[in-house]
Order: sequence, then structure tokens, then C-alpha cells
Amino acid sequence: MKGVLALLALVAAVTSMENFSGQQVLRILPANEEQVDLVRELENYEDLKLDFWMGPTRPERFVDIRVPFFSLQDVKVYLEFHNIQYSIMIQDLQELLDEERRDMKIGRALENARSTDTFNYAVYHTFDEINNFIDTLVAENPSLVSKIQIGRSYEGRPLNVLKFSTGANRPAFWIDTGIHSREWVTQASGLWFAKKIAKDYGRDASLTSTLNRMDIYLEIVTNPDGYVYTHTRDRMWRKTRSPNTGSTCIGTDPNRNWDAGFGGAGSSSNPCSETYRGRAAHSEPEVKAIVDFVKSHGNIKGFVSIHSYSQMLLYPYGYTSARTPDNAELDSVARTAVTALSSLYGTQYTYGSIITTIYQASGGTVDWTYNQGIKYSYTFELRDTGRYGFALPANQIIPTAEETWLALTKLIEHTRNNLY
Ligand SMILES: *[C@@H]1O[C@H](CO)[C@@H](O)[C@H](O)[C@H]1NC(C)=O
Ligand SMILES: [Zn+2]
Repeated sequence: MKGVLALLALVAAVTSMENFSGQQVLRILPANEEQVDLVRELENYEDLKLDFWMGPTRPERFVDIRVPFFSLQDVKVYLEFHNIQYSIMIQDLQELLDEERRDMKIGRALENARSTDTFNYAVYHTFDEINNFIDTLVAENPSLVSKIQIGRSYEGRPLNVLKFSTGANRPAFWIDTGIHSREWVTQASGLWFAKKIAKDYGRDASLTSTLNRMDIYLEIVTNPDGYVYTHTRDRMWRKTRSPNTGSTCIGTDPNRNWDAGFGGAGSSSNPCSETYRGRAAHSEPEVKAIVDFVKSHGNIKGFVSIHSYSQMLLYPYGYTSARTPDNAELDSVARTAVTALSSLYGTQYTYGSIITTIYQASGGTVDWTYNQGIKYSYTFELRDTGRYGFALPANQIIPTAEETWLALTKLIEHTRNNLY
């Protein structure tokens, strides 16, 4: 009997989806350095199972924490005891996720995915649906679009990249989305970008001119194991899914795993942390595949890695406060890009180097690409500024993709006009 119950519990654990009922996201505003440290202290209480959506940085800069129901009382008492200001950003995370599920179901029922013209860009899609989309887009545009597989994920899933090309031996611009799996608006925007590029070639003067001189590579699901896990087990999963020896905690933060200041401040050596850097630089096959691709290609001139949330456009460095030699140019292009972005719906972005604008982060993607000689290396943090965070409602996918495309176009044009 005991054995049967244990087995049943195991089956339930293996098949059930994490339930965020009663969980809240708190926005905390530390007033001074002492309060920043007190909020940072919370990271050490592993039993609270806190999930820092936006980690502590400096006074007057908010911190967003997802708090499980069983820890809510403790955390609120702690904050109130120390007179630290906070508000409730999300009352009940599961309610938002239930809506998201419902929208996905309805969206699927309304969509005809056999053509990329009738594909529903306004809903979130599964890994299999995205791969079908990729194959459909390639089949529809055989002379422009191809699919290349740059490797396999830890669990063996293909790392698919779309290549948009009209000629051989061209310099290239790279875009990736979804390296953090729970940032769903990024993969969804990637799908929209793919269709936009395929549709605009030969119609839009700027994109046509770009593709007559350069290739564009687009990796939509950059962390497939994590992405599948967000659909099947835990919507808030961020890292890869590789195991860690000596720990029961799974996964490495693929945006701390690159060989650029690897192991420095702004990354964790604790496998249970959301910013765990991994046992070695490029330990994650999802990262290594891009490293190998970038090196063997040898002619990538622009590189954009897309995250959410915060509404920021960032350039190197993240691991050091040293400025890159290209700081002035990168900054002025960023300004042009966020100005274009805000022209559509008024969405406000901040911009600057990673370390000065968001926080110190070591082992990040675009620090590595920049150090490889890819001057135009940028990271986006898409919508929003925290009202929904990672649970951004699907009705914001298309507006987010549209406005982001305006900024991307500026980055791509600048790269095309300044080939080096
Ligand atoms: C989550 O848990 C709550 C409370 O236990 C329950 O009412 C709700 O139906 C569950 N939701 C899902 C999607 O499992
Ligand atoms: Zn991210």
C-alpha cells in the first residue's frame, strides 16, 4: 500500500504543472544601502523559495520578488519590521496564468497553422508549434529562408536557426530570443519577426537593401528544454535543464555561462540560484552551439539577444564598469533605436551599458560577442516594466513585436551602413 501511494505521488509529481495559486509578486523599494542589503539577505533564506524577478541593485531601484503563498506572511513581516516600502504587483499569479492558458486554447482553435499567413501571432505557442511554423515558413519561401540546426539541447532537442539569405558569403546579423525560457513574449516576438522579414523582402526598401548585402540569422527558441518545461511543468522556469553534480537543483543560467568575465560578480556559484553560472564557461550545449556557430561563421557584424522584462536596450559591458572603445557609438545608436521604438505606441525604454543601466552581470551573451569583435552587440529587455512581468498577456505580443522591430531595424540599418 505504501509503495502504491509513493508511486502515485511520484506519478503526480512527474506529470503535474506547478500551481502558483495565492503566490504574489511584491515590488520592493529599498530607500538606502542598508535596506538594499536587507533585501539581499532574503536571498540567503532558501526555505522561503523566493524567485527574484528583478534582483536588488541600489537604493531607489525596485526589486520584484515572486513569493510563494507559504512565505508571504514571513516576507511581509520582515519588510514591515525593517520599514522597507513595498507594494503588491501581482495579487495572484495563477489567475494570470489561467487566463494565459485560456487564451492559448482559444487562439489555437481560431488558428490555421498550415500557412504562416493564417498563423495566430497573437497567442503563445508550444515548442512543437514553433518548429512546425519554422518548417512552414521555409517551405513557403525556399529561395529566401532556410533552417539550420546548430546543435542539440541538453535533452536532445534541435537548436534550430532560421537563415534569411539572398546570396553566398555575406556578413550577417544575428538575433536570438528565449534564452531565458519564461520570457515568453520574446519567443512570440521572434515568430512575428520571422514572418515580417519573409514578407518584407522585395517590398520594404530598407529590409530589401539589408538582405541584398547581409544575411539575418534568427534563433527563436534558444533554450528549448527550458521552454518545454515552462509549458509542461513550471511556467516560471528560466534556466537550462542540465543537472548539477552534488546538487538536487537543476539548470544553469545561460546568460551567465559565456566566457566573458565568467565567474565574476553578478553571477552565482550556487546551482540552486536563478543566476547559477554553470560549472565552466560554455558548459551548456545551448550556449556552446552559438559559440561554435559564431566562431565558424567568422563574419557576424551585429548580434542582438532578446530578453524580457524591463523595457531596456543595453550594450556591453555587464561584467565590468570599464567602457568599451565603442561606447559613444553604441550609445547613440541605442538612442536612435529606442526613439524609433517609442514612436509607435509611446513605450518608453531606457538604454545604456548593462552594468550602469540594469545591474552587474558576468558571463553574459553580448559581452562575449562584443569581445569576439562583433561591435554591434545589444540586449533588449522587452515589455513590460513589471505590471505583468513574465506573465505578459498575449494581447501585448503583436504591439511588442511591432515596436521592437522598429528598434531592431535601426540597429540592422546602422550595421549594414557601417560594415567593418
Ligand atoms: C491551483 O490550486 C488552487 C488552490 O489549491 C485550485 O483551486 C486551482 O484549481 C488550481 N489550479 C490549477 C490550474 O491547477
Ligand atoms: Zn532574461
